[in-house]
Amino acid sequence: MSTQNAIAGPTSKTSIFEFSNPRFREDFDERPFEFKHSFTSDHPLFSRERMRRLLNNSTTKNNVYYNAGDIRVDQRWDAVPERTKPVEEVFDSLENSGAWIALLRVDQDPEYNVLLEDSLAEIKKLSGREIDDDKKTQEADIYITSPGRVTMYHIDPICNFLMQVSGEKQIHIFDRNDREVLPEEDLERYWTLKDYAATYPPELEHRAEVFTLRPGTGVHIPLNNPHWLKNGNDISVSLSINYQYKDKRRKDVYQANYYLRKMGMKPRPMGSSELVDQMKVSAVGVSRAVSSKLRALRPKT
Ligand SMILES: [Fe+2]
Repeated sequence: MSTQNAIAGPTSKTSIFEFSNPRFREDFDERPFEFKHSFTSDHPLFSRERMRRLLNNSTTKNNVYYNAGDIRVDQRWDAVPERTKPVEEVFDSLENSGAWIALLRVDQDPEYNVLLEDSLAEIKKLSGREIDDDKKTQEADIYITSPGRVTMYHIDPICNFLMQVSGEKQIHIFDRNDREVLPEEDLERYWTLKDYAATYPPELEHRAEVFTLRPGTGVHIPLNNPHWLKNGNDISVSLSINYQYKDKRRKDVYQANYYLRKMGMKPRPMGSSELVDQMKVSAVGVSRAVSSKLRALRPKT
């Protein structure tokens, strides 16, 4: 059954996160949970003018993605309406452009990088995890959405802390271990083809946990937990602090299963046999080495 969660603003002036929250330790990258944080719209890095500068900054402008229009929860990422306006114009008319703008890798701007580093340092302490050893990348992204806009159902390759800075929106998060919601085939396609568009199961919507995000609150989205969002009546600004794992094993096993399934087999799900998983990792490693060798031997034209 869906649950409604809403929490009040931050309690600490000296830290970003609320240090009394035990769920960072108990549920880290296992179950979604809500938390409080200290970023709100009066922070200078989240003023509209400051964020607009990221659209023109020579490094960050290359990592801006956007679309506008009516989007359904089950819409595929590759089937969004065609862009008809430049991003600056969409940004300046956010109130009524039905837009979703992703300012990715804002940490390439040193001022935003401080937010990323400080947040991760606190998350490390709060969770007790060896994040520095586990991660291969770290990233800060800002998502800006028009009133009423839906962000379609998808899965991500990241361990994510999504922090609401302004506006109010709802996020619906599903359990990645529920194979009726997220079948093996979706995970195999994701890890092989980077296909973010998992198949939305409308009949299982009641299994989603629904969080209402308000300025000063956030939600932890574990790796691969499917989710979709709907913005409220105002422009929404959210900061995502996230990182990707070094975990190559997961990718290799799902890739092996993807190709085995394509050959008509029914591969064992990842984690059901340590030995079989290891054989798949070795096979994918050998196949990758052979392909790269063949590429190197190919005559140059
Ligand atoms: Fe996401």
